[in-house]
Amino acid sequence: MITRKHPQENSLFEYLWRSVVFAAVMASVCCAQSLRQEAEHDGVLIGTAVRPSQLSETAYSSTLAREFSMVEAEDAMKWWVLRPDPATYDFRQGDEVVRFAQAHQMKIRGHCLVWGRYNPDWLTQGHYTTRHLSRLLHEHFNRVMKHYAGQVFAWDVVNEALDENGEVRDSLWYNQPGIGWSGKGTAYIEQVFRWAHKADPQALLFYNEAEGEGLNRKSDAVYAMVKDFKRRGVPIHGVGLQMHIPTLDVDIPAITASVFANIARLTALGLQVHITELDVSLPVDSRGTPRPDDLTRQADVYRGIVRACLKSPGCTAIQTWGFTDKYSWIGSHSHGTRGQALPFDRGYQPKSAYRAVWEELSAGRPAAH
Ligand code: XIL
Repeated sequence: MITRKHPQENSLFEYLWRSVVFAAVMASVCCAQSLRQEAEHDGVLIGTAVRPSQLSETAYSSTLAREFSMVEAEDAMKWWVLRPDPATYDFRQGDEVVRFAQAHQMKIRGHCLVWGRYNPDWLTQGHYTTRHLSRLLHEHFNRVMKHYAGQVFAWDVVNEALDENGEVRDSLWYNQPGIGWSGKGTAYIEQVFRWAHKADPQALLFYNEAEGEGLNRKSDAVYAMVKDFKRRGVPIHGVGLQMHIPTLDVDIPAITASVFANIARLTALGLQVHITELDVSLPVDSRGTPRPDDLTRQADVYRGIVRACLKSPGCTAIQTWGFTDKYSWIGSHSHGTRGQALPFDRGYQPKSAYRAVWEELSAGRPAAH
């Protein structure tokens, strides 16, 4: 027996069915190709920070290899991992990252050679003289950069050396006791860029900074420093803009315009810009769940940053700080109050942020104004 449906019921069913088909078609149109395939057409690298301990997890490694064309060790090339004691160079974790990248035709960024933080206790509490410290650091450059020569194509030579007022930060390397240029501003930074270039003349050398992504006092100071370096022939090839975005209480068009303006002035000096540590963290409840609207706003921030990069031909890499919410530094960094900062969720499903990045990459580089 054929039961007749009420006409309205029929059209509702048809409407729902059409919506499902439409959504499926849109999903396949949107993201049939990976981020790395889309990025390749734009001449931009799409990278992410990785943890070697997770490479044995199939979902982690397959997503990584499919979506990204560049990797950076999240911690494995920092002093506290490479240098467990004064006599030892432990390259095992860094080498794992390199092997993975080579097996999947990915570029490798190195991070980082000089930073006032995350140094081993033997170094920070060793009461070294300036002379000794300078020798230790110079040797570190030679050993580490030569070990990774031909593998790491670009290094963050110096990380976060300036404060929010644009002054050189107090640090082990600058003035506590420093490597010989205490009180002389950016001279110690210049010195280590010269060492870096000698150690690996092929590597691209970057100054990497936090909270100087848009126009502000810190980014003005970075700009002044790198302009001076370029003018005097100090070997520097680029600036890394970290781009950890800790709040959605921002005017997204204004922020992205400011980031674009900063990228434009840096690249006008003949430097490359890499976005090095992009993540957009959300407030989360005690179970780690964000408010639904925030995921949409987060996608808008990702979209704006990718667009700001693509508008400058000299912006040549976009890198997220991890890719799955399963593994992100934001949780411990914020004592569990923030999270969900990355383009893939904990189950490796793409979020709206992923789609926004994909769409921007697929739209390609717009003309700069
Ligand atoms: C963070 C890592 O993600 C953590 O695993 C580690 O405990 C601390 O460092 N700016 C940087 C990165 O340049 O090296 C930092 O990475 C995040 C802030």
